[in-house]
Amino acid sequence: MAMWSGSPTHPAAGTAALQGNAIPVLLWGSRPGCRVGGSFSQGKQQHTNSIRLGVSAGFVSCGFGYETIPGMKPQATLGRATTPDGKELVLYERDGVYSIRVNGLELMSSRAHGSEEALARLVLARVRRPHPRVLVGGLGMGYTLRAVLDVVPQQSKIVVAEIFPAVVEWNQADLAGLANAPLSDPRVTVRVTDVADLLDGHPIFDAILLDVDNGPDAFTIARNTRLYGAQGLEKIRRSLRRPGVLGVWSADPDPPFERRLSKAGFRVQVETVPAHRAVKGPKHTIFIATVA
Ligand SMILES: C[S@@+](CC[C@H](N)C(=O)[O-])C[C@H]1O[C@@H](n2cnc3c(N)ncnc32)[C@H](O)[C@@H]1O
Repeated sequence: MAMWSGSPTHPAAGTAALQGNAIPVLLWGSRPGCRVGGSFSQGKQQHTNSIRLGVSAGFVSCGFGYETIPGMKPQATLGRATTPDGKELVLYERDGVYSIRVNGLELMSSRAHGSEEALARLVLARVRRPHPRVLVGGLGMGYTLRAVLDVVPQQSKIVVAEIFPAVVEWNQADLAGLANAPLSDPRVTVRVTDVADLLDGHPIFDAILLDVDNGPDAFTIARNTRLYGAQGLEKIRRSLRRPGVLGVWSADPDPPFERRLSKAGFRVQVETVPAHRAVKGPKHTIFIATVA
């Protein structure tokens, strides 16, 4: 029997315990954004059983669940780093699926990356300059960066701001193949820095893509709050060459953030996109903010 006990704040924060016959347990993990509801399912492939329950209200998302997959391989820890506020960033792999967790909470998984790619496509479709300068903050597993590279021409310049050197190293090694080695592309310059500090230098871009947390709310490091308030948005606006576009990835809608964007002088559109490449399944939110 597999038992799961979870945190009320995040699906990946629970611990799994095995009793009796050892059945590997996979804690249900995806970037948050579940709605009220639950399900029990028996998978057609791999004979999986899963229970998923979730609640989402305003800023608060919580959920829990488990999957049992007979014969599933144990999880491997591939790398660790410490965040400036003392949290632990860990890279895991199981059965070819990679995940990055912060203090046990999932920041990113290679299981679903449709919305990370949509962030790039939706923003770049609105950029008019033929050879745009694009800022991608942060790197994660490189899916957003790959989607940028797939649509911009050769003469374009892409700066990636990634705060953790370990994430860059992981993308040059274990994670390189996930998004077809985007760091090897000559259009890309990697800056190992806090994207907020990079913006303090008043660089100029045609598009800024932000996916550093699970939405416009600090998750990875506490000081990311400064990106989403009036001062942070003003700093971003000043770094956009008109007509410039800011895109922000989010697990959930966030009407107060939309209002802050409008107040900061952006024209705001909100798109709901599938988390997976398939149209069905969970949805995420992309804020598209244009400065005219
Ligand atoms: C959710 S992942 C990004 C996923 C990415 N869009 C992809 O397609 O794989 C968030 C990334 O932002 C980085 N990060 C968090 N805060 C940051 C900051 N202030 N400046 C730069 N990078 C940051 C994290 O280390 C992590 O690599």
